[in-house]
Amino acid sequence: MKIKNICCIGAGYVGGPTMAVIAQKCPEINVTVVDINENRIAAWNDVDVENIPIYEPGLSKIVEEARGRNLFFSTDIDSAIDKADMIFISVNTPTKTYGIGKGMAADLKYIELCARQIARVAKDDKIVVEKSTLPVRTAQALKDILDNTGNGVNYQILSNPEFLAEGTAVSDLINPDRVLIGGDIDTTEGKEAVQALVDVYAHWVPQKQILTTNVWSSELSKLTANAFLAQRVSSINAMSELCERTGADVNEVAKAVGMDSRIGPKFLKSSVGFGGSCFQKDILNLVYIAKSFGLNEVADYWEQVIIMNDHQKRRFASNIVKTLYNTVSGKKITFLGWAFKKDTNDTRESAAIYVADYLLNEQAEIVVYDPKVKAEQIYADLDYLNTRTEEENRARVTVVNTPYDACKESHAVALLTEWDEFTELNWQQIYDNMLKPAFLFDGRRLLEKRTKEEIGFEFYAIGS
Ligand code: NAD
Ligand code: UGA
Repeated sequence: MKIKNICCIGAGYVGGPTMAVIAQKCPEINVTVVDINENRIAAWNDVDVENIPIYEPGLSKIVEEARGRNLFFSTDIDSAIDKADMIFISVNTPTKTYGIGKGMAADLKYIELCARQIARVAKDDKIVVEKSTLPVRTAQALKDILDNTGNGVNYQILSNPEFLAEGTAVSDLINPDRVLIGGDIDTTEGKEAVQALVDVYAHWVPQKQILTTNVWSSELSKLTANAFLAQRVSSINAMSELCERTGADVNEVAKAVGMDSRIGPKFLKSSVGFGGSCFQKDILNLVYIAKSFGLNEVADYWEQVIIMNDHQKRRFASNIVKTLYNTVSGKKITFLGWAFKKDTNDTRESAAIYVADYLLNEQAEIVVYDPKVKAEQIYADLDYLNTRTEEENRARVTVVNTPYDACKESHAVALLTEWDEFTELNWQQIYDNMLKPAFLFDGRRLLEKRTKEEIGFEFYAIGS
């Protein structure tokens, strides 16, 4: 079975970059990415390729190469489904905000809508690929809907979770540690469908890195991988608090521990707390699944990862208040960075949002500079919390275009995102223009303590 036409439903952080790379590497396959969000599709089609809606290093070049050749962005979902041999579902699967499982379970309504649309439109056999991160056994629900409401055509459901990280999406997609494909490997049709997807990736991924499993293992491996990664961050962050009390330094501890080849050096960077759209959502989902099977100890174990992360964000904010003589009321606090990590314009669940909310409750005035995040996004993030009125958020938070403007006359600077450019700032100039004593809180262990203290800053860094 040779795939000629791919449709991807969902033109977001996963669908857009993943399909751009597939189109680049497989010039003989037509790839159409569709979305209900007209503005997003218009931005993907913008004549100026620098205006595509997602910022990822290297992405605009790939889009420029493939767009119009074999990569298309469209709102005509029905036509793309009709034409495709293989349909990826890459829509969002947020935490439920209502009803049973509120605040924990994954909301699968967008997934179900996709399945019903495919069932309505498809007139010939299709391979449907779960690209979104889903609770284990979702493929069964998809199959039920497709088989019971479809036009009598055959469907094969594959699970092909995505492991890319934002900010490095292009290099993760081009050189993945592994590609995971789960399918119905007990039947001939299932095996053929798995092989069809293996053949797509084999255009550029070595065969030994393409792993095939049954569907349930694939679905559960994705949740497990994110839980393990988040757990490492919470583990090192737990140690950061102990370091601050004991005179140990968390970077030195991480280095010493990470040199044990059984532990490894990656993902041991202490921070103000992990953010991003997935770690928290996926762990809450895992906790919910464990509870639904009555596995309370399993659920409690993983929930601690989130509890630790919330504590780290709160601790960073309350340390600012304590250090500024127990009040930040009316004081100007500068935020350098708002994105949840460097090299992305994504702010979902960013620690900065929660630190800001805490300080605003203490009546601080906040000024934000982030090289890639727009003011309207920052206000939308704060409004979403519903802690205060939209007017109040706009009155108390200012967004500016340069780090120097952001720091002028402020009482304290808090570094929330590890953008490279922050290491190269003229910190002397920043210090000269701040109120004294000038406080600097490094939530990312990005800045060198010695040089900042020599300038005259009162310097505080996570874990030292
Ligand atoms: P996103 O919100 O950026 O994009 C999802 C898109 O799907 C949106 O543009 C939305 O308009 C569209 N959509 C929703 N319902 C639709 C429908 N019925 N028809 C057409 N379009 C529809 O989300 P994302 O970050 O790309 O994440 C997608 C999935 O991938 C999630 O399950 C997430 O957990 C998973 N994932 C994300 C990342 C990441 O780095 N962001 C990495 C790995 C896996
Ligand atoms: C994460 C995973 O790394 C991806 O493999 C996965 O595909 C993705 O989630 C997903 O499913 O959405 P992402 O959230 O984009 O990717 O970025 P990460 O690099 O994992 O960072 C997540 C958060 O942890 C960031 O806020 C980052 O600053 C923080 N972090 C990461 C640390 O604080 N310390 C570290 O050592 C590593």
